[in-house]
Amino acid sequence: MAEKEIVETSEAEIAVHWGEEEYYHPSTEFIAQANMADPAVFDRFSLENFPNCFKEYADLLDWYEYWDTILDTSDAPCWKWFSGGKVNASYNCVDRHLAKNKNKTAIHFVPELEEEKIEHITFQELYVRVNEFAALLRDFAGLKAGDRVTLHMPMSAELPITMLACARLGVIHSEVFGGFSGRASADRIVDSQSRVLIIMDSYYRAGNLLNHKENADIAVDLAEKDGQKVDKVLVWQRYPGKASSPTPMVEGRDYFVNDVLKDFYGRRIEPVPMPAEDPLFLMYTSGTTGKPKGCQHSTGGYLAYAAGTSKYVQDIHPEDVYWCMADIGWITGHSYIVYGPLALCASTVIYEGVPNYPDPGRPWRIAQELDVNIFHTAPTAIRALRKIGPDEPAKYNYKFKHMTTVGEPIEPEVWKWYYNAVGKGQAAIVDTWWQTETGGFLCSTLPALAPMKPGSAGKGVPGIHPIIYDDEGKEIPSGAGKAGNICIQNPWPGGFQTIWGDRDRFVDTYYARYCKDPNSKDWRDWPYMTGDAAVEAADGYYRILGRIDDVINVSGHRLGTKEIESAALVVEEVAEAAVVPVAHEIKGKEPDLFVSLKPGYDASPELEKKISDTISTEIGKIAKPRHVWIVKDMPKTRSGKIMRRVLGAISNNKDVGDVTTLANPEIVEEIKQMAGQ
Ligand code: WTA
Repeated sequence: MAEKEIVETSEAEIAVHWGEEEYYHPSTEFIAQANMADPAVFDRFSLENFPNCFKEYADLLDWYEYWDTILDTSDAPCWKWFSGGKVNASYNCVDRHLAKNKNKTAIHFVPELEEEKIEHITFQELYVRVNEFAALLRDFAGLKAGDRVTLHMPMSAELPITMLACARLGVIHSEVFGGFSGRASADRIVDSQSRVLIIMDSYYRAGNLLNHKENADIAVDLAEKDGQKVDKVLVWQRYPGKASSPTPMVEGRDYFVNDVLKDFYGRRIEPVPMPAEDPLFLMYTSGTTGKPKGCQHSTGGYLAYAAGTSKYVQDIHPEDVYWCMADIGWITGHSYIVYGPLALCASTVIYEGVPNYPDPGRPWRIAQELDVNIFHTAPTAIRALRKIGPDEPAKYNYKFKHMTTVGEPIEPEVWKWYYNAVGKGQAAIVDTWWQTETGGFLCSTLPALAPMKPGSAGKGVPGIHPIIYDDEGKEIPSGAGKAGNICIQNPWPGGFQTIWGDRDRFVDTYYARYCKDPNSKDWRDWPYMTGDAAVEAADGYYRILGRIDDVINVSGHRLGTKEIESAALVVEEVAEAAVVPVAHEIKGKEPDLFVSLKPGYDASPELEKKISDTISTEIGKIAKPRHVWIVKDMPKTRSGKIMRRVLGAISNNKDVGDVTTLANPEIVEEIKQMAGQ
C-alpha cells in the first residue's frame, strides 16, 4: 500500500501527503558517548561567529604551517579557506595515526564472494602501500603536484590507497564511478587533461567477475580522438599476479601495478606540504547541460570539513567500526568512506559488491562479522532491502549505535523500517542532505542534540545557515508550508572552489540567481544556490523535495537529462530525444526516454534496444531508461520547444492537463495510447 503511494506521488505532493511526523529521540546510551553533546556548539557556529568558528574544524588536522587567514574572499565567490596554511591529506589520514594506532585496522575490505576472506589492512600496512604506490606514481609515472590523474576504479582497498598516494604527492585525483562506461571515463580524462589512467582489471558485481580493463582501452582511444593522449595506464589486478580480464595489455602503455611495484618495495615518500587552497581532487557530477562538471575540492578546507562532520554528525570515534555502503566513485565515498573516517583514525569498511549478493541478509552478516557499529547508506538500498528481505536484520547479531541515510528524500515509512528493523529501535539516525559540490553535510540533526523526524533532514549542521527563497528572491519563512529554492547564506570550508576550467559556469550555475552584487567581495552578497526545492517546517527542520533543475536522482545518483538525451542522439536514426523522470519504487526515480526518428527510419524493437544499449555504453548501465518510446513527433509548443511536462505526465500516468495550445495536440493522444493509457 505504502509503496503504491510512493510510485504515484509527485514531489510536490509528497510534501502534502507526508504531513508532520512525530519526533524520535536518541537513547541516553548514545548521548552519553557522543562526540558532540554540547548545545552551545550552535552558538559557537552562529552567523555572528562566522567564519572564525571553523577554526575548530581546522584544528582537527595536523598542519605543517598554520594558516593566517581563515577565509579569503578576494576572488568571490571562489572562496579560499585557511590561506597561508600547509597541510597534507595523506599525512593526516595515515602517518599521524601510526604512533598510537599502527596496529589498528584502517580498512576492512570485504570481497563480494563470501568464500573470499575479508582483508584487514592496518594503518602501518596502509602507510607502506600508500608510500610504495606514491613512489611509483612519482618515479615511474612521472606525476607531480598539480597534475591530474583519472582513476576508473571499483570498490577495492586499492582505490583509497591510490587516492592517498596521489594526495601524498599533491597530485589531483579524479575518480570516475566504476560502473560508468569507457566513454564517460574518456570525457573526464579529456576535461581534466589526465595523461595517466589508473584502473583495476576486473571486479565482482552480483556474482559476476566483470571485465573492467576493456573500459580503459575504450577510454584511452576516445580521449585521444578528443585531443587528450594517455601515455600510461596503470592496472591494478583483482587477484595480484593473475590476469582476470581477457582484454590484452597494450605494450608500452599498460602496466600491471603489481609488477612495477616490485621496484618500489620499501620506498618511503615524504608527504608534500600542500597549500591549503590547492585542489585535492575533482569529482564530476551532472548538471543541466550534457557536459559533466568537474567539482574542484580543496585540500585544507575540504579535509577539515570532512573530518569535522564525520566526528560530530557521524559520531565517529577511533574505536568505531564504520561502514558506509556507498561507492567511493561518488562524493559520499570520498568524504565518508575515505577522507573523513581515516582522518579520525576509524576503521572503515569497503564492500566490493551489491547489497543483496548472494541474498538480502548479506549486509547484516557483514555487520555481525566485523561488529560494525555505525552504518551509512541510501534510501534506494533501504527500500530494496526492505522489499526483498524485511525480516533479515533480526536474524543477525549486530548492534548499530548510529545510522545515516543520504542521497535522496526518504519516505517516512521506509525511515521507520530502517529505524525499527535495521537499527533495532536503538540506533540514532541522521538524514544528511548535501551534494557533490558541498564536500560534506549541509543539513542534518546532530544525533545527540536533536530528535529525529522521519523524512526531514533537520536544521543546518554547525556553521551552515540555510535560507529558502522564492523565485523573486524573497525569503520563505519557516512554517509557511510553502516550498522554495534552498540556498546557503554563507560559505563553508568543504564547499567546492570552482568547476574545473570553467569559472563562468560555476558563478552562473550556483550564484547568479540570488547574488546581491556581482562585484562584491563580501560573502553576505553571495548565497549559494543548491538547486534543490525544500520546505522549512515550523520547528526549523528542512525537508528536501528534490531538484529544481534538469537532474534526475536515480538510486541516489545524479544524472542530467541532457546527458542521457545527448547519448540517445549518438544513434544515427534518432532526430530528437527527451528524458523525463518516472517514479520508481526502489530507485526513487528512473529515466524514461522519448525519441523521434529522422525521416526514412521506422520504429522497431531492435531500434529501441539499440538506443537503450547506446545509453549504457555512452554513460553506464545506471542511466538505462525504463523504456524507449519511439514517437512520431514530440509534443511541442508553437515555438518548437519539446513539452517535457506533458511527456512526464504520460510516463507517470498522470493527467496531462490542457494541451490545446500545443502546436500538435493530437500527438499527445497518440503517445498516451502507445503508453497504454
Ligand atoms: C539529493 C550526494 C533529500 C539532493 C551526497 C541533492 C538528498 C542531490 C539528500 C545531490 C537527502 C542528497 N534528502 N535529498 N538527505 N541528500 N539529496 O551530488 O537533490 O550525488 O541536490 O550528492 O541529491 O546528489 P550528489
